[in-house]
Amino acid sequence: MSACELRSIPLKRPTFARFGLKMLGVYSSSIVVDPTGCDLRTQLMETTMSLNPHPWASELTTMHCHIWSLLMRGVADRRAAARHPTLASVTPDKRPKARTVVLRAANKVRAWLDIHIDKRAKKVAELIANPFATLHVWDSSEHLQIRLEARAHFLTGRQVEEIWARVPDGSRSAYRIMPAPGSPIEDALAYEEVMELNEFGIIRFEIDLIDALHLGPQHRRARFCRSDDWAGQWLAP
Ligand SMILES: Cc1cc2nc3c(=O)[nH]c(=O)nc-3n(C[C@H](O)[C@H](O)[C@H](O)COP(=O)(O)O)c2cc1C
Repeated sequence: MSACELRSIPLKRPTFARFGLKMLGVYSSSIVVDPTGCDLRTQLMETTMSLNPHPWASELTTMHCHIWSLLMRGVADRRAAARHPTLASVTPDKRPKARTVVLRAANKVRAWLDIHIDKRAKKVAELIANPFATLHVWDSSEHLQIRLEARAHFLTGRQVEEIWARVPDGSRSAYRIMPAPGSPIEDALAYEEVMELNEFGIIRFEIDLIDALHLGPQHRRARFCRSDDWAGQWLAP
C-alpha cells in the first residue's frame, strides 16, 4: 500500500487505525491513537514512508537470527512455512530428487535440523551414497527463500529410542507399513500396518551453508557459512 493510498483512508475509528497499522506490520503499543484520527493519519503516513515490515533483512546478523527463528517456529507450529521444507538429494545415477518433509527439530548453536523417516525409504540409500542435500523453504509472509546446504547423518541407538517413545500412537503407523515405501503394489491400498515392525529413523542435516533471498522494495541476498562461523556475506540477488 502506498502513502497516497493511505492518505485516502477515512480514519474515523481509532480501533480500525490500530488494526491497519497492525496489518502493515508496524503496530506498536507505544503508538498514541488520537481519537479524532487527524494526528494518527499524519503518523500513519510518516510511518508508511519509512515502512519496513521486515527490518531483520537489513543486517546480516539479524537476518541470520531471523532465519533460525523461522526454522524453530517450523518445528513448533504446524502452520509455519518452515514446517514443510523440500528436501533435495541426488540419486546414485546423478539425478535430482525432491520431496516434502516435516521439520522435527532445529538447533541453531550446532546448526542442524532433524527429520523423521522410514529407514527403508529411497532417500536413505541416496543420502548414504551421497550425503550432500539441500533443504528449501519459501516463507511467503516473510518474502523469504531459505536454501540450506547440508550433510546428512543417520541417528541410531538411544537417541532414536528416546524420540520414538515420544512419537504419538497415531503417527507410528507411518513407520510400520508393509511392503516398504516405493514398492510396486497390486492396487492403491494393497499395503498394511504390521505392529511388530519399527522402521523409524532420523536424519540429521548438518548445515554448511545458508543462502537467503529476501524480496523487498530492494531485494537482498545473503550467504552464511559454517566455515566462517556464520558471519555472513551479502550477494547480488
Ligand atoms: C506434507 C508431507 C509431509 C511429509 N513428511 C515426510 C517426512 O517427514 N519424512 C519422510 O520421510 N517423508 C515425508 N513425506 C513423504 C515424502 O514426501 C516422500 O513421498 C516419501 O518420503 C518417499 O520419498 P523417497 O522415495 O524420496 O524416500 C511427506 C509428504 C508430505 C506430502
